[in-house]
Amino acid sequence: MKYIVKNLPEYFKYQEKALQDPEKFWSEIAESFKWKKRWSSVLNADMHKADIKWFEGGQLNITENCIDRHLEEKGDQTAIIFEPNSTDEKAEHITFNKLSEEVNKIANVLKQKGIQKGDRICIYLPMIPELAYSMLACARIGAIHSVVFAGYSSTAISSRVNDASCKMLITADGSYRGAKEINLKNIVDKALVDCPTVESVLVVKRTHCEIKMEAERDFYLADLTKSASTDCPAETMEAEDPLFILYTSGSTGKPKGMVHTTGGYMVYTAHTFKNVFQYENGEIYWCTADIGWITGHSYILYGPLLNGATTIIFEGVPSYPDHNRFWEVIEKHKVNQFYTAPTAIRSLAKQDISHVEKHDLSSLKVLGSVGEPINVEAWNWYDHHIGQQRCPIVDTWWQTETGGILISPIPFSTPTKATFATFPLLGIQPVLMSEEGKELEGNLVNGNLCIKTPWPGIARTIWNDHKRYHETYFSAYPGYYFSGDAALRDPVGYYRITGRVDDVVIVSGHNLGTAPIENTINEHQIVAESAIVGYPHDVKGNALFGFVTLKRPISDEEKEALKIAINESISDQIGPIAKLSKIQFTFSLPKTRSGKIMRRILRKIASNEFTDLGDTSTLLNPEAVDEIIKNREK
Ligand code: WT7
Repeated sequence: MKYIVKNLPEYFKYQEKALQDPEKFWSEIAESFKWKKRWSSVLNADMHKADIKWFEGGQLNITENCIDRHLEEKGDQTAIIFEPNSTDEKAEHITFNKLSEEVNKIANVLKQKGIQKGDRICIYLPMIPELAYSMLACARIGAIHSVVFAGYSSTAISSRVNDASCKMLITADGSYRGAKEINLKNIVDKALVDCPTVESVLVVKRTHCEIKMEAERDFYLADLTKSASTDCPAETMEAEDPLFILYTSGSTGKPKGMVHTTGGYMVYTAHTFKNVFQYENGEIYWCTADIGWITGHSYILYGPLLNGATTIIFEGVPSYPDHNRFWEVIEKHKVNQFYTAPTAIRSLAKQDISHVEKHDLSSLKVLGSVGEPINVEAWNWYDHHIGQQRCPIVDTWWQTETGGILISPIPFSTPTKATFATFPLLGIQPVLMSEEGKELEGNLVNGNLCIKTPWPGIARTIWNDHKRYHETYFSAYPGYYFSGDAALRDPVGYYRITGRVDDVVIVSGHNLGTAPIENTINEHQIVAESAIVGYPHDVKGNALFGFVTLKRPISDEEKEALKIAINESISDQIGPIAKLSKIQFTFSLPKTRSGKIMRRILRKIASNEFTDLGDTSTLLNPEAVDEIIKNREK
C-alpha cells in the first residue's frame, strides 16, 4: 500500500500530495486492492448537498480483500485470536483458511434462507468468532449488516430492526460478560414481538442456556452450516453499494442509522490502520472495543483483516477474573499494538500497580486511545506504566460517521503530546470555525471542528433519511462536514479535541458551549464529573443547570460553599454569563452503554418535564434518572 508514513518530513510531503490532488492520491492507494472492475471516476462530491461518492464504476467484494487475497501466502497464519471470557477456556487461533471456510458456509446458509443482495440482517451477538464470520458472510453475498451491541435492550433492538426492515436476525443463546451470564435469546424474543419484517432467526450456541425456539422461524446456525459448502462466490458489489448500517447511540434522540459503503470504506480503514498502528506482518494487534461499535467494525474487523493482520477478539471485561486481565492477555499473546478507551485506562489506573508490574509488557510497540478526550493523568499513567515510555500513544479522534480515524499521531513520526490528537491523517483537512461561520486562520485558536473536503470513509447518508443527514452534519457550516466537537490548535498546529459542542445553550443571547463549562467544574478536586444543560428561563431565554457528581460525600455546608466556588471559577475562566443558575449534586449521571452522558434526559429533568423522558432502555444506569428526579433541585 502506498503512502505509509515513516518519518515526519515524509508525512508533510505526502500530506501536500494528498491535498493537492486527492483523486490521484486515493486512487494510488486504491490500486493495491483487488477490484473486479476498476473505477471510472475517483470522487464525485457536493458537500453542500451532502452528496459524496468515491470510486464510482468500480466493482469489488470487500471479503475478497479481507480473506481470499491472503490465502495463498497467509492461509495458515492466524487471522483471529479468540480470547474467551473465562480464563479456564483456551484461546482459539483461527487461520485465514479457517476464516474463509466459516464465512463461506454461513454465506451459503444465508442464501439458502432467502437472503439476497441488499437485504438487511441484524446481528446481535456477543464478542465471539461467529460475530466476525456473520458480518463477513453478509458482505460476501452483498447483504447489509446492522450490528446491534449485545448489551442493548429489546426496545433498542426492535427500533433498529424496524428502522432498516431487517429480514433476518443472527443471535446467540446467551453471552458471558465477566461473572455474569445473559440470556440473549430471551431479549431477542421480546424484541421480535414488534418486528414484522424478520422472517428467520439464526442462533449460535454459546452458553447452552435454556431458550425457546420458534418453529419455522428459529434455527441453530450449527445445524445449518453442517452441510453447507465452504465455497461461496463473492457477490459483485458497486463501490457505492452499502456495506453496513451502524446506529449511533441515542444521546440525541432517535438513533441514526449511519450508512457506510463498500469501496471507500475499504480503502480508508485499511490505509489508516496501517499508518496509525504501523502494523508489520506477523504482529499481534488488540483493540479492546466491542465489534458492536464503529471502533470494532473498522479496527477489530475490517482494517486489520484488509492488512492481513492478526487481530484479537476478546469476549471478556477488564475486571474479570480480576484487574490483571488486560495485562495478562498482552503478555500471553505478545500483543504489539494495544488500542483501548480512556475510561478503561482510568479505571485500571485506580488499581494496585502490582497488577501491571507482574506482567511482561515488552512486546508492546504502539498504544492507542479512542472515544473521548483523554485527561493528562490518564495519558501519563498509560505512557509510564503500560508503554514504559517507549511506546508512542496514538490519541485517535474520529466518529461513527467518519468510518475511520481522522486525527492521530503517526507513531515514530509525529512527536506525541499528552491530550493532543496532534495532526490530521493524510488527506484530511480539519478546520476550526468561528461562531460566525468563518474559518479560523493560524494557530492558537479555538473553534468548532469541521472537515473541509471529503475522504473515502465518510458515511454517505442516514438510512432512509438523507434530509436528517444533511441537516445534522452539513447545514451548520454549509459546504463543510461539522463534527459536533470543538477543538483547539496549538502553536505547532496540533489539534486537541475539547468536547462536544452540539449542546450549545443560548443564555441572554450568548452562545455557550456546555463542554468548556464542564471542564471548569471538573477542575475542582472533589468533582468526579458534571453535565450542564439549558432550561427555559423567563428573562434570559435559557439558564444553565449543572448536575455534578462528587468523588466522596460532603456535608450540606460544604455543598453550599462548593456551589459558590464552582460559579466563581466559571466566572473566572469563561465569564459571569456562564454561571450556573442551579446546581444539583448527584450520585451518578445517566449514561449510554458507550459511556456518554445522556444530556437529553437531563435537559428534560432540568425543565421539569418528568413524564416524557423518551427511551431510557439503552441506558447503562437507568436508576440514576430516578435518583436525580427524587432529589431534584428546586
Ligand atoms: C465522538 C464520537 C470513533 C470511535 C468511538 C466513538 C468523541 C472520539 C476521541 C478522542 C476526544 C473523542 C468525540 C466524537 N471522541 N475519540 N480521541 N478525543 N474525543 O464513536 O460514539 O461515534 O463518538 O466521541 O466527541 O465526536 P462515537
